Amino acid sequence: MKILTVIGARPQFIKAAPVSREIRKHFKEIIVHTGQHYDENMSNIFFEELNIPKPDYNLNVGSGKHGEQTGNMLIKIEEVILKEKPDAVLVYGDTNSTLAGALAASKLLIPVIHVEAGLRSFNKAMPEEQNRVLTDHISDLLFCPTETAVKNLKSEGIEKGVYNVGDVMFDSILYNIEIAKKKSNILERLGLKEKEYILVTIHRAENTNYKEKLINIFNALKDSNEKIVLPLHPRTRKFINDYGIEVGQNIEIIEPVGYLDMIMLELSAKKILTDSGGVQKESYFLDVPCITMREETEWIETVEDGWNVLVGSDYEAILNAIRFFMPKGEKHDYFGNGHSSERIVEIINRTLQK
Ligand code: UD1
Ligand code: UDP
Repeated sequence: MKILTVIGARPQFIKAAPVSREIRKHFKEIIVHTGQHYDENMSNIFFEELNIPKPDYNLNVGSGKHGEQTGNMLIKIEEVILKEKPDAVLVYGDTNSTLAGALAASKLLIPVIHVEAGLRSFNKAMPEEQNRVLTDHISDLLFCPTETAVKNLKSEGIEKGVYNVGDVMFDSILYNIEIAKKKSNILERLGLKEKEYILVTIHRAENTNYKEKLINIFNALKDSNEKIVLPLHPRTRKFINDYGIEVGQNIEIIEPVGYLDMIMLELSAKKILTDSGGVQKESYFLDVPCITMREETEWIETVEDGWNVLVGSDYEAILNAIRFFMPKGEKHDYFGNGHSSERIVEIINRTLQK
């Protein structure tokens, strides 16, 4: 059996690492990197650190408008599928690379496997929501990370091929946490003391694309007077420059970091402020209070348990949460047991193997 994996953006490399390791014990895997993310510290660093096999194809699609980027991927992925003739195409999450991979395969009648299926924010203005809804509706095997995701699919009439396998990002954290403690020296490099700083990430279009929202966020960060560490996504760097935003002296902006450094920054942070999907879950896994700069989240379990709070881009709400938010709830094992990748491969083997 031959599986063609399509990945292209930072969180997909992290999700693919444990699954690919498991796939290769049983099947042949071809990795296609769309080139959506291409900077050294947005792409290569993850392949090296996480021992992800070098992509068999790099489509070098790069940045662009949504339709243009997705369309270019679609054209090039189709060519690879026609050449490789895989038995299934595997995609992750909700980026333009996810939709392009799924659509190319579906039109060629190749089974589509979607890992991290069923997530919903119910906000159709998000490019990610468009990508995930469309991908789910053309997928044959839908691997959900939580029971909520299974219910979301059911309410859209998707029940066949749906499995709650837990979250592959939990597999990834468990596998890498001890490695990160041994290998990462980011705390020493930045002179950071445990639980004396706040870690921040910002990259969602819904925040970066609106000058006023980004200004509110940076004003709240400045006025908190906390020590802030901000590994800056290139999208956000561009908008900070375009809008001429003044960054407070208490905010240390650094380049995006590798996964092992990121785990250490998360683990040692007093609180985490983010608009990332993956980082919300990692805060929960690592017992760090999370403040989410969004109006809604797909990861509602983290909020229901009291470990995550939604503040949008509201100045007062961000400041209040930085000062006063403390988790109060008990945690649950909503995200599986750290063996999601094995379950995924076992189910593929059972259901698709010829
Ligand atoms: C994409 C995903 C988003 C995901 C995020 C993970 C879509 C629609 N969005 O958002 O769901 O949360 O990845 O990080 O697929 N850039 C660089 N170097 C790079 C990559 C990007 O400079 O290596 C800059 C370019 O100016 C580019 C911008 O970042 O235009 C945005 O990149 P893009 O991949 O389009 O979207 P992300 O914001 O990264
Ligand atoms: N991450 C990283 N370095 C960084 C920022 C994030 O390794 O500088 C990791 C983070 O730990 C998580 C993943 O990237 O595993 C999340 O990706 P991102 O926030 O870009 O996308 P999202 O999850 O929102 O789609």
